Amino acid sequence: MTAVNTLKDKKTFNVALVGATGAVGEEMLKILEERNFPIKTLKLLASARSKGKKYSFRGQSHGVEELTEQSFKGIDIVLSSAGGSISKKFMPAAVREGAVVIDNTSAYRMDPEVPLVVPEINPEDIFKHKGIIANPNCSTIIMLVPLFPIYRKAGIKSVKVATYQSVSGAGAKAMHELERQSREFLDGKPVTREILPHQIAFNLFSHNSQVKENGYNEEENKMANETRKIFHDEDIRVAATCVRVPIYRAHSEAIYAELKKPLKVSEARELLSKADGVKLVDDRDKNYFPMPIEASGKDDILVGRLREDISADNSLALFVSGDQLRKGAALNAIQIAERLIR
Ligand SMILES: NC(=O)c1ccc[n+]([C@@H]2O[C@H](COP(=O)([O-])OP(=O)(O)OC[C@H]3O[C@@H](n4cnc5c(N)ncnc54)[C@H](OP(=O)(O)O)[C@@H]3O)[C@@H](O)[C@H]2O)c1
Repeated sequence: MTAVNTLKDKKTFNVALVGATGAVGEEMLKILEERNFPIKTLKLLASARSKGKKYSFRGQSHGVEELTEQSFKGIDIVLSSAGGSISKKFMPAAVREGAVVIDNTSAYRMDPEVPLVVPEINPEDIFKHKGIIANPNCSTIIMLVPLFPIYRKAGIKSVKVATYQSVSGAGAKAMHELERQSREFLDGKPVTREILPHQIAFNLFSHNSQVKENGYNEEENKMANETRKIFHDEDIRVAATCVRVPIYRAHSEAIYAELKKPLKVSEARELLSKADGVKLVDDRDKNYFPMPIEASGKDDILVGRLREDISADNSLALFVSGDQLRKGAALNAIQIAERLIR
């Protein structure tokens, strides 16, 4: 990595979307339009399979081009979501051309040279970039945005979390798999598998990432390691159990946080009612709490079920639902880009 482009002197930007045809890429396109991102030119890049596919952006048709190392001439900002190996292969070329890359994959997240940023938490890290800024894992973002106000006020020693992750977290094809399997199941036909390792319709299973030597799968290890990096806190301990559930969109998480200092549930509720990026949904009388169906398509992470963790001292329990394609991926990346050009 060489060029450090601060993008300071420009008012409009040449933007390339890498992985434009994917679940995250399509969401990026929507959000760039919704937030009126100052785009001069837009380049949509994907594999050769998608060459020529058309997308409408601000009323104009844009054709998808095949990603190559030559794709980045004149590009200011690359929003990349085509998978880790594609980022490793192509993003150095983008940086050599002087672009700033905001990368949604896991390729660079734990690289000490690359900032890992959630704008509500560590926006100052954006400006330490050397060409690449990494967007954290979706489950990590959805956990940390609501935990951060609590962390700032009372400190957090450790977190135990169980996730309920939607199929869109595994990409556009996994969404089609849930739909197809549900039809097959209801029609009494054999359920077929193509993308996910087990039947997802009317079932759930441990997250479909590789189980590592410590017994935790990659997703669970990402939540632990990325939390330490984003909070700049080597002491915080996170134990996660990540589960894939038959939900189209939005991840939910049951979180138990062990605090350093006492914090009343009422104080936590007050903090979260004012925090950026979250919306309190916490009505005990109506038994109404965060649900993925209501988090889908929303920017805010819904947070509720606030209560004392009665199994431990100074410990708080909460439940969150957040749209992992938006705040867990595309929105977070575009918020980073907005800060970068501000
Ligand atoms: N889904 C989520 O909720 C989420 C959240 C956070 C981060 N992420 C990360 O974002 C990345 C993309 O996820 P996704 O869910 O959007 O996946 P996806 O729906 O499977 O889309 C993958 C995208 O990458 C493109 N691609 C694949 N191989 C390529 C190649 N050889 N050259 C150029 N482009 C290629 C695909 O293009 P074609 O259509 O041409 O194949 C498509 O646009 C992954 O690294 C994922 O871990 C995903």
